[in-house]
Amino acid sequence: MTVSIISENGIAVVTIDNPPVNALSQALRQALVEAVAKLDADAAVKAVVLICAGRTFIAGADVSEFGKPPQPPHLPDVVATIEGARKPWVAAIHGSALGGGLEVALGCAWRVAVASASLGLPEVKLGIIPGAGGTVRLPRLIGPAAAVELVTSGSPVDAKKAEGLGLVDAVIEGDLLAGAIAFANGAAGKTRPEPISSRAVAPVEAGFWEGAEKAVAAKAKREAAPLRALASVRRASETDFASAMAFERETFLDLRGSQQASALRHVFFAERAAPRPPELAGITPRDIRSAAVIGGGTMGAGIAAALRDAGLPVILIERDAAAVERGLANVRAIYDGSVKRGRMTQAIADARMAGVTDSGDYGLLADTDLIIEAVFEDLSVKRAVFEKLSVVCRPDAVLATNTSYLDPDAIGEGIAHPERFLGLHFFSPAHIMKLLEIVPTGTTAPDVLVTGFALARLLGKIPVRAGICDGFIGNRILKVTRAQAERLLLSGATPAAVDAAMRAFGLPMGPFEAQDLGGLDIAAFQRKAARERGEMPFAPVADRLCALKRYGQKTGGGWYDYQPGDRAPKLSDTVAAIIAEAAESRAQRAWDEAGIVDAILLPMVNEATCILEEHVALRAADIDLVKIHGYGFPRWRGGPMHYAEGRGLSEVVAVLDRLAADGLAEPPSDGLRRAAKAGGFSVLAG
Ligand code: 3HC
Ligand code: NAI
Repeated sequence: MTVSIISENGIAVVTIDNPPVNALSQALRQALVEAVAKLDADAAVKAVVLICAGRTFIAGADVSEFGKPPQPPHLPDVVATIEGARKPWVAAIHGSALGGGLEVALGCAWRVAVASASLGLPEVKLGIIPGAGGTVRLPRLIGPAAAVELVTSGSPVDAKKAEGLGLVDAVIEGDLLAGAIAFANGAAGKTRPEPISSRAVAPVEAGFWEGAEKAVAAKAKREAAPLRALASVRRASETDFASAMAFERETFLDLRGSQQASALRHVFFAERAAPRPPELAGITPRDIRSAAVIGGGTMGAGIAAALRDAGLPVILIERDAAAVERGLANVRAIYDGSVKRGRMTQAIADARMAGVTDSGDYGLLADTDLIIEAVFEDLSVKRAVFEKLSVVCRPDAVLATNTSYLDPDAIGEGIAHPERFLGLHFFSPAHIMKLLEIVPTGTTAPDVLVTGFALARLLGKIPVRAGICDGFIGNRILKVTRAQAERLLLSGATPAAVDAAMRAFGLPMGPFEAQDLGGLDIAAFQRKAARERGEMPFAPVADRLCALKRYGQKTGGGWYDYQPGDRAPKLSDTVAAIIAEAAESRAQRAWDEAGIVDAILLPMVNEATCILEEHVALRAADIDLVKIHGYGFPRWRGGPMHYAEGRGLSEVVAVLDRLAADGLAEPPSDGLRRAAKAGGFSVLAG
């Protein structure tokens, strides 16, 4: 049963039980309308408490229904029915009251919440706006400025803050149900507050809406929903309730069917599916209560901070006393930065640092559950580390390497109990970037693999399983991105035009700006190794830049020139001359933005298709998550694979065929052609 009702001493308790998150399915909406009718007709009932079973209050509309035609009763009518009920309703909130959940609560006469609850309207994060009065009732309850903030950011507030805003009437200490019943009993005798829909909106200062529009537009960039949400709050503040509701509903329905909303829903479900891959269902992970990191450089320090942020005690091992000091200083610098940016208090930062034990002594690792190696990218250095770990660690301790390009099978050769070894590929900065590629070797035991996923959950990261190949999923595709970017240069595009086109597509940075920021030397090192293996990586311009030690911002020049102390890229005559030299007698053409994006993105999709076919990635959605969470691919585009499917895979094949005919890309893979015939990537998934 979705909704149950118990009445005692004049208070009816309506309990929603619709796991996992009490989302407002059609059945639940229907049951709520029926509950209102039933309780309205019950003379013994003075007031109603609306509470939810399980982990949360109503977390919103049922997102899985968004792709289908809306079924009655529609949520705005459900909220209106509750608001118009003869008996006053009290929403008793725990967990999250989000989206439609908060809108239902706004239909209630009062809202009470436990201190740990959070309340918000996250719809813009799904590419839509609230569709059941959120933008209309909220400014009437808490004023336009606070409403604009909540609605356009999509970020929730905690119960205390909500109380301060007037969104919650009381924060309940102790048992929520008992507290809510007591509140309802107390309230039943008092005058019922005016329904929110009948209230007036507080006036705003002159210029308020124009200022808000500028701020929201600057943050949203090309995402449509935040500005549309703002327009809806504005309309709600400037017209009567009924017209504002009609405007909100129209906007909601319009956005619900939009490409951006479909992409954001795809990412929403992919993110939730990622931590629990079906092929690993039922396998119990190993306990991780303590961790160690070997190597306290850029990655090791970030990984140590990520582990500390998740509450694990961390041992940080370095080569010698001086390196130990540097490693610890690297971790401290991360926390100093967090304090400076107001992300955490000094006291919390101090506590996090206090949980890091720094040492050169491997003997300390005898009872550590998880050890992550992040030393130099050098096979013999890494092997030497694992040789020591094999001796000192418990046989069931999980051992991981953070290698970017080396073969984990080769690193793991000779490890005692090789079933406990795997790759855990973090992204820089490791305490911030959400992606974690989990790389099983030929010997990794299933429970160790599952432990990788459990660790990701603990760290708040998005785990994606990746098979062994050069660069795993993300860096393998990145190589294609860079090669394509260079092909464009040799055929008439400039670095500035390529970067501008990719930014316009929605990436935070173009491929050349990104290389200048990260440094060209790392990729040059990879190419050298690849050439030693007999491969022929394509980077004619980057190779020339590196020969001149133009490694990027850190050397005052890379793809662009930089003035000392200034990160702003300046066009470089030197680079233009190098490109001209590398282009030799190649055919030149005029590139527009769309052409540039196609020439970079569609070959990435082609490579990703090979990755799927080889089962290096198991699902197209996993590749989308890798690009979104590791490389800044715009979320609202849904990732490259979702984008390609939306574009139509036959068209993707046709564009690639044309590029290949001109020598500007590899031809479409057989897998891509098959996927195009089948109308989607699912034919290739492992
Ligand atoms: N609709 C359908 N399914 C949902 C859902 C929703 N709104 N919210 C969560 N789920 C599902 C997840 O897909 C997942 O399913 P699975 O177990 O099969 O993988 C399951 O519920 C649990 O979700 P989480 O793993 O995210 O659980 P957590 O406990 O970590 O988090 C939560 C709970 C904070 C409620 C989180 O799920 C969340 O933020 N949900 C989204 C809330 C949201 O965006 N609501 C607004 C919807 S739009 C709307 O309401 C429009 C309205 O204005 C008309
Ligand atoms: P780094 O050079 O900043 O740090 C390496 C650290 O390891 C140094 O502090 C060094 O003193 C220490 N070290 C070397 N040998 C050691 C040993 N035998 N015992 C203990 N400590 C030792 O390198 P970075 O960038 O942190 O990379 C580390 C690993 O992470 C590499 O395998 C790299 O490929 C990988 N990686 C790097 C990413 C990046 O963006 N920098 C991203 C993802 C993975």
